[in-house]
Amino acid sequence: MNKQPIGMFDSGVGGTSIWKEIHELMPNENTIYLADSLNAPYGEKSEKDILELSIKNTEILLSRNCKIIVVACNTATTNAIDYLRANYKVPFIGIEPAIKPAALKSKSKTVGILATKGTLSSSLFHSTSENHASGIKVVEREGTGLVNLIETGKVLSLETKKLLEEYLDPMIAAGIDYLVLGCTHYPYLIPILKEMLPDNVKIIDSGEAVALQTKAVLEQHKLLNLSMGKSNLEFYTNAEIAVLSSFVDDKSTTVSFLDF
Ligand code: DGL
Repeated sequence: MNKQPIGMFDSGVGGTSIWKEIHELMPNENTIYLADSLNAPYGEKSEKDILELSIKNTEILLSRNCKIIVVACNTATTNAIDYLRANYKVPFIGIEPAIKPAALKSKSKTVGILATKGTLSSSLFHSTSENHASGIKVVEREGTGLVNLIETGKVLSLETKKLLEEYLDPMIAAGIDYLVLGCTHYPYLIPILKEMLPDNVKIIDSGEAVALQTKAVLEQHKLLNLSMGKSNLEFYTNAEIAVLSSFVDDKSTTVSFLDF
């Protein structure tokens, strides 16, 4: 039995899409979530800056006794996870665009991927694409501007719809049958994406797989919390509490400001 919390961080509110999957799968686990909204978007920053921010977030979570860290951000994972794994003792779970399942399932052999500039330009993303999507046409688009709109609560706005039209049109014209969401903010766009995409295009993200992997790694390290008590669910933001609260509409959570 291990009651230490699972630590998670993202450049902002997006990683709450991963937190939800993890909490649903393991409701008795204590969690600490850090939303570094002050520094969002990470996707437009240099690899060095993304690494420094990832180190800062990791050290805060470790100072709060986390037993495992979920990097709930594709951009931070693809730019920093190798360093984090090599330099800290706790296990790290990362999230990468689900290019492999999309490539395996695609009938049109054409898949779209929407992710940040930081993710699409990373060497980890390139090697994953080369290893798992050979023979598949991958239509990549940077989702510039989308994270900012989501961070300011404009998820279902006209502005968001216009940007998405610009990003999706070339993918639809190329004949994609899978759209990979390569940023943890983007699952919040699924309602609009469903309206905009042709019926045969399926949307795929990595949230559930990350939750299953987190459970498997906790089990493997004998770190699961087997107690049945009520879990302690802490959320911290260095920006607007109201914005983060609107993404975690779970009554049992506490959302606080933290200067980090
Ligand atoms: N949620 C982050 C990701 O998964 C957003 C990146 C950003 O802040 O640009 O990539």
